[in-house]
Amino acid sequence: MRKQIKIDYGDITQISCECIVNAANKSLLGGGGVDGAIHRVAGPELLEECRALHGCNTGEAKITKGYRLKADYIIHTVGPIYSGVKEDRTMLENCYRNSLDLAKEHGIHSIAFSAISTGVYGYPLEEAVPIAVAAVRQWLAKNPEEEMEVIFSCFNETIYQMYQEELGE
Ligand code: APR
Repeated sequence: MRKQIKIDYGDITQISCECIVNAANKSLLGGGGVDGAIHRVAGPELLEECRALHGCNTGEAKITKGYRLKADYIIHTVGPIYSGVKEDRTMLENCYRNSLDLAKEHGIHSIAFSAISTGVYGYPLEEAVPIAVAAVRQWLAKNPEEEMEVIFSCFNETIYQMYQEELGE
């Protein structure tokens, strides 16, 4: 069975896969962090397409073209702003689940996730990484017929080690 979950250490905008997942905000009009990096590399047409999407609710996901990125598509998902309530976990799980469902709808078979909510939105990595891995594993188990390679994009050593540990690598 092909290895379905991988880790990439580096910049998500440089990953050659069909789709990369952006940690966006509800406006979908760009920002800092990975959102800023993706918009910078994708170019101005991305913002134009995002404007027409009229925002996105927390936990939901919307798709655009990838423009100047190597990836053909970008899925924009809005993670929870961490406050320690139970709802945070549900919203973060929804980001991964809804992004994978959207990728499946578009016939996408390789998708890279940035570590949603673990930057500006303050989600502690030690909580967010297990949630992300469990949500992806659950989705893959529920969609056994789906050929889907999932890459966790790790922008620094800390994130990389946490995903390695969580995946038992
Ligand atoms: N490639 C991969 N991962 C990256 C990159 C990159 N180029 N840049 C940042 N990251 C990682 C960060 O290290 C962090 O682990 O993405 C993760 C998410 O951090 P943020 O980008 O801050 O996203 P988030 O915490 O979800 O906050 C979203 O920040 O940038 C704004 O517009 C965005 O308002 C929204 C908020």
